[in-house]
Amino acid sequence: MRLTGRRLQPPGCVLALCLMALILWEIPGAWALDNGLAMTPTMGWLHWERFMCNTDCTEEPDSCISENLFMQMADLMDSDGWKEVGYEYLCIDDCWMAPQRDSKGRLQADPKRFPSGIRHLSNYVHSKGLKLGIYADVGKKTCAGYPGSLGHYDIDAETFADWGVDLLKFDGCHCDTLEQLADGYKHMSLSLNKTGRSIVYSCEWPLYMWPFKKPNYTEIRQYCNHWRNFGDIYDSWQSVKSILDWTSSNQRTVVSAAGPGGWNDPDMLVIGNFGLSWDQQITQMALWAIMAAPLFMSNDLRHISLQAKTLLQNKDVIAINQDPLGKQGYLLRKEDNIEVWERPLSKLAWAVAVVNLQEIGGPRSYTISLASLGQGVACNPACHITELLPVKTKLGFYEWTSFVKTRINPTGTVLLQLKISQTTF
Ligand code: GLA
Repeated sequence: MRLTGRRLQPPGCVLALCLMALILWEIPGAWALDNGLAMTPTMGWLHWERFMCNTDCTEEPDSCISENLFMQMADLMDSDGWKEVGYEYLCIDDCWMAPQRDSKGRLQADPKRFPSGIRHLSNYVHSKGLKLGIYADVGKKTCAGYPGSLGHYDIDAETFADWGVDLLKFDGCHCDTLEQLADGYKHMSLSLNKTGRSIVYSCEWPLYMWPFKKPNYTEIRQYCNHWRNFGDIYDSWQSVKSILDWTSSNQRTVVSAAGPGGWNDPDMLVIGNFGLSWDQQITQMALWAIMAAPLFMSNDLRHISLQAKTLLQNKDVIAINQDPLGKQGYLLRKEDNIEVWERPLSKLAWAVAVVNLQEIGGPRSYTISLASLGQGVACNPACHITELLPVKTKLGFYEWTSFVKTRINPTGTVLLQLKISQTTF
């Protein structure tokens, strides 16, 4: 099915066609990893983009990868409203480990930076009503050079379960072959399952496959709760844009793979850091909602502007991200540097994001024919439209044959929600 470049539907779209479109959308996704987790995209905080592999606690005690950092973030996730809106998983990325396994072959945390150990940290995180995520690698070493899990999948899964870990981000560095990569990702999935503990399994399997072979998403979905497809996010507009471009260029392959239990992961939210303008932060939030992306913030919750916090805690946008229908949105059309993305939601509602990619000039107007949205059914026979971003505004009641006008700042996004109304004028 071709998703981009769709032409406007004629206003007289016959009901049968519309119904057929609806039925098509309702076909359930492929069978997902059956651990009952990630029925909506996982939400939380992950240290990598903001704190990277900073191990120097002497020079930088406040930003090195240590138990203090995670305890402080746990306190804030609990006290500053993050947990309340859904950010639940506090996740450790690379560089938490000691350089060697212990005498029993188990991974161990760096004793200087995590003197109380991971079990203690997970107790602390759980006491705040949160969940703990940890990081390991399918190959010989992690990407930053710490011990890898190759040959140790069972013992590592058991160690994480013993510690009370709730999510594993499993990276794909230092594998020798594609078979080793695939076998390792599958093995760890089964090892986690065998522990009997509910552990969300976050993979990077397809990212490491793409340079060699098109990934089999049906298979990946059977083993992982989410999977990275593309390179690491940076704190820049160029990076966010490249992720959106990759996703829209590959949407025929990846969109149908997403659904309750398994999600495409376009990487962390960098909102609240240094590199994105306000409009670009809005674009990231809106498009991560459209893409049904796991929402892992990577920022410093101790130093975050009220504006960024309000955006990240926007309940309407989070509700779109977490919509229980679990269908990922897609790029509907691109014309003259304007992109229109749409996502089907439960109760026949739709989310529509209009992105202005022009980086010269001021705000631009863009008018959308409502008959062109949601395969002709998004506003049929009529709908209520609310602008959710940049500013929540009720735009009102629209008939199917009418048009909605948007005005979008350069590199910004207008996010709309359409809700069907049976009443006509
Ligand atoms: C890879 C991953 C990143 C991060 C680093 C850690 O690059 O894609 O998300 O986990 O490794 O070394």
